[in-house]
Amino acid sequence: MPIRVVFVCLGNICRSPMAHGLFEHMVEEAGLSDQIEVDSAGTSSYHNGEGPHPGTQEVLGEHGIHFQHASRQLTRRDLREADYLIALDRSNLRGISQLGYPTGEVGLLMAFAPQAGIDDVPDPYYSGGFDRVYELVKAGCEGLLAHIRQAEGI
Ligand code: 4NP
Repeated sequence: MPIRVVFVCLGNICRSPMAHGLFEHMVEEAGLSDQIEVDSAGTSSYHNGEGPHPGTQEVLGEHGIHFQHASRQLTRRDLREADYLIALDRSNLRGISQLGYPTGEVGLLMAFAPQAGIDDVPDPYYSGGFDRVYELVKAGCEGLLAHIRQAEGI
């Protein structure tokens, strides 16, 4: 069974799909696609079925990542089946705990990039700033991949 990583934000159209697309790309480049499975979900159902926000698609595309995903709401099944549930901000982390008790490791993405000195990836839905969000998500994903490789011995 592959290791299952699920990124979680509010709408599953801006930040968690960005982390999903970028982390999947990093996993591929590391030759670990058979061992690590990546997904994302939102704590809300506001955008169920929608593709990633144009700002997310654009910034991923600029980095050569062509990513498709349909927004979906986080479920109790995710809490049971994910080995790593990674929240994009502290409010998303609370949303995860409100749903139940997760089996795997749960944490904030930015905890894997302490050098950035922040807890929350800012929400670009209303205020934009997708480039900065990308840089933060990238730093977090690099730290997360290193953490998983060490923890899982891969
Ligand atoms: P995300 O951004 O959580 O990064 O996908 C948002 C998307 C939609 C809304 C808020 C944040 N909304 O309120 O609809």
